[in-house]
Formats: sequence, C-alpha cells, structure tokens
Amino acid sequence: MSNDTPQKVAIVTGASRGIGQAIAKKLASDGFHVALVARDQEKLVLVQKEIEADGGNANTHVCDLAQRGDFGALIDQLYADLGRIDVLVNNAGMTRDGLMLRMSDEDFEDVINVNLRSVFEGCRAAARPMMRGRFGRIINITSVTGLSGNAGQANYAAAKAGLVGLTKTIAKEFGSKGITANAIAPGFIETDMTAALGEEIRKGVEKSVPLRRYGQPEEIACAVSFLASDGGGYVTGQTLIVDGGLTC
Ligand code: NAI
Repeated sequence: MSNDTPQKVAIVTGASRGIGQAIAKKLASDGFHVALVARDQEKLVLVQKEIEADGGNANTHVCDLAQRGDFGALIDQLYADLGRIDVLVNNAGMTRDGLMLRMSDEDFEDVINVNLRSVFEGCRAAARPMMRGRFGRIINITSVTGLSGNAGQANYAAAKAGLVGLTKTIAKEFGSKGITANAIAPGFIETDMTAALGEEIRKGVEKSVPLRRYGQPEEIACAVSFLASDGGGYVTGQTLIVDGGLTC
C-alpha cells in the first residue's frame, strides 16, 4: 500500500481470536485496511485470509504487548508504511484471577502491564499521526468488571477501570484535534476467555442476564463499528456497556 492510500487504516490488537477477530472482520467489511496485531502469526494469517476472501484488506503484525516499547514502535512503523492511522482499537487483554490476599505482585503487574500500560503506549503513539490527519478514533475495550469490580479480579478490574479514566482523559486532551476516544464495556461474551469459566458460571449468567444469553463477539464488533464510523463522530469520552442488561 502506498503512503497516500485513500483507504482508512484501523489497528486492532488481539485480532487473532474472539472479540478482536470479530472487530477486525467488521472494520474490514466497513472498508478499513486493518492491521491485525497479536502474538500468534499463524492465527493472524488465518484471519487475514478470511478478510481477503470477503474482499477486504488486512495485514498481520506479531507483537507482544507485554514488552515495553514494542507496540509504540509497531505503530510508528505502521504509520511510516501506510501513511495514516485513523482508528486504534485496543482490544487485547488477559486475566490472571485470584483472591486478593493470595494474588502475587507479579500477577497484579502483568495484568496491568498488558491491559492498561500497553494501551497508554499505543494511544500515545497513535495520537501524533491522528493529529496530523486531524481525525482519529480510539476505542478501548474495557469490561463491566472495571465498572463494578469483581471478587477474584483485583488486577483485571483495576486495569479495566484505569482504561475508563485513560479514555476520558484522551477525549479531553485530543478532542480539539478531531480525535474521539471511547470505551466499550462488554459483559459475558462467548470467547475462549469465558469458556475458561466453565458451565456452572455460564448457567448462572444465563439465568441472571435480562437477555438470558451470552453475547457474541460480533455484537461488540457492531458497537466498535458505530464508534469508528462518521455517524459516531460526536460521541467521545463515553463507556458503552454491551452486556445484555447485566448491570442495568
Ligand atoms: P481472548 O482471550 O479470546 O483473546 C484475547 C486476545 O488478546 C488474543 O488475540 C490474545 O492473543 C491477545 N493478547 C493477550 N495478551 C496479549 C499480549 N501480551 N500481546 C498481544 N496480544 C495479546 O479474549 P476475548 O474474550 O476476545 O477478549 C477481548 C477483550 O475483551 C479483552 O480485553 C477482554 O478483557 C475484554 N472482555 C471480554 C469479555 C468476555 O466475556 N469475553 C468481557 C469483558 C471484556
């Protein structure tokens, strides 16, 4: 792709599976060139092939967000190669659950590092190219856990709550430059992350959620698509909860 491509560029982290994969496919079908970021090159290539088979454009980038500096350097490189960055979706995330009294410093710091620090790094790197283009959409995937807390997830809840504050701050610092920043807080969505919770929790959720089911990754992707679209241009600093009514 040349430096002057008219096609808008979206970066999606954690695009190898689950919610990130669905977001990447949706943004590609919306007409974005999608930079797919995750750790597993083989899985990323499968997603790229599916996007291309549907007539979309994507390329793959292996990056471990836990490594300080790597994500920022990747964004700099993408800007040099593609000439523009329009949308950044910080979707990648991890859990390392445990009750607080037993949670190690390492488990706390690792989750904060991947789920919050790397997002700061990515937003800071993407902000300059977005300012140059006088257009940008930053979308951070938080969680209802970041809004309400959750026993056994002190690290994850703190990181996800941090994303809400980070997102509002970006909205305030960069609004005058044409950049919006929003968060999406999913409830229980059917992915590998929730499969690990087991059948019992699933049954409990299905009883308590007003819509009586887990959400699908595509339902988060549609919310991202709206916030990235021209029609979403006056929404900034918000956290959109997509949880089947769990927290209402
Ligand atoms: P998942 O576990 O299926 O996928 C996570 C993705 O993040 C994978 O592509 C993985 O490779 C990537 N990733 C993790 N650590 C990484 C690292 N160090 N460097 C690069 N990539 C890394 O998760 P799922 O369910 O698709 O979740 C996506 C996002 O949505 C996460 O931020 C998660 O916290 C959030 N979320 C998910 C919910 C759910 O019910 N599935 C509920 C609320 C929030």
